[in-house]
Amino acid sequence: MQSGSQLSTSIDATVPTAARMYDYYLGGKDNYAADRAAVEELDKVVPSTRALALNNRRFLRRVVRTLAAEYGVRQFLDHGSGLPTQDNVHQVAQGVDPAARVVYVDNDPMVLVHGRALLDQNEQTAVIQADLRDTDGILSHPDTARLIDFSQPVAALFVSVLHCIPDSDTDGPRAVARRVAERLVPGSFMVMCQLVSEDPRVRDFVTGFMDRTTQGHWGRVRQEKDVAELFDGLDVLEPGLVEVSTWRPDTEVAPRQLTHEWIEFGGVGRIR
Ligand SMILES: C[S@@+](CC[C@H](N)C(=O)[O-])C[C@H]1O[C@@H](n2cnc3c(N)ncnc32)[C@H](O)[C@@H]1O
Repeated sequence: MQSGSQLSTSIDATVPTAARMYDYYLGGKDNYAADRAAVEELDKVVPSTRALALNNRRFLRRVVRTLAAEYGVRQFLDHGSGLPTQDNVHQVAQGVDPAARVVYVDNDPMVLVHGRALLDQNEQTAVIQADLRDTDGILSHPDTARLIDFSQPVAALFVSVLHCIPDSDTDGPRAVARRVAERLVPGSFMVMCQLVSEDPRVRDFVTGFMDRTTQGHWGRVRQEKDVAELFDGLDVLEPGLVEVSTWRPDTEVAPRQLTHEWIEFGGVGRIR
């Protein structure tokens, strides 16, 4: 993928985006009427999505804390980071070690504006606008070069974002994951989860709905087996690939997902 391609620099409040819809699900304020209307429409078919989003965010928090506290990771490259919310990756990682470094990557111009105000808080954190498929552009970006030492382990995060990109031999989830993993030293980690459903009606409906709603800025609801393929060649940490609320839960007090038309599915793989 060409560096800088397909990046929008202006914010259009009338076309919903994945970032702002997700923000609305999490109870944030960085969303518009069009985003809220799309969420309400989607809820008619997949009513548990708010619980799913909240649990996904909790998973992200647990993964970052676990990798920092138990596996000594001090560098995080967060692809599809989303709008700032509570317990952002740098806050969790720097809660373990203030020297931890984080590069946030998102293609949504609103993430750049709000992110720079709220996430770019210290010299160990940066927000860059890029398409997550642009591996060369991201890895050679001056902020990445300044913050990430590629001779040391890195955790590359792809949390709840791979469903936003379509299948492609060169730029689909498998190709991107492989490309990034090849650039990281052994002992690095790939954190990957995405929306899946084993019901073809849900996959078709939601994929079509999100594609129309976001005007083509969407990929595909996949199946658990598709996510499993992303981990080929990696050592998957316990408990394996799971619905993310069950990945090393630290409390029983999590929003219960009452229906399971779709789930957020994935885990953590260590690079050999
Ligand atoms: C559902 S949010 C997930 C946010 C965060 N990773 C989390 O799990 O809490 C997906 C994010 O990915 C971003 N995104 C979607 N497609 C992208 C792409 N091709 N390149 C970079 N970011 C992308 C969206 O703008 C949005 O902020």
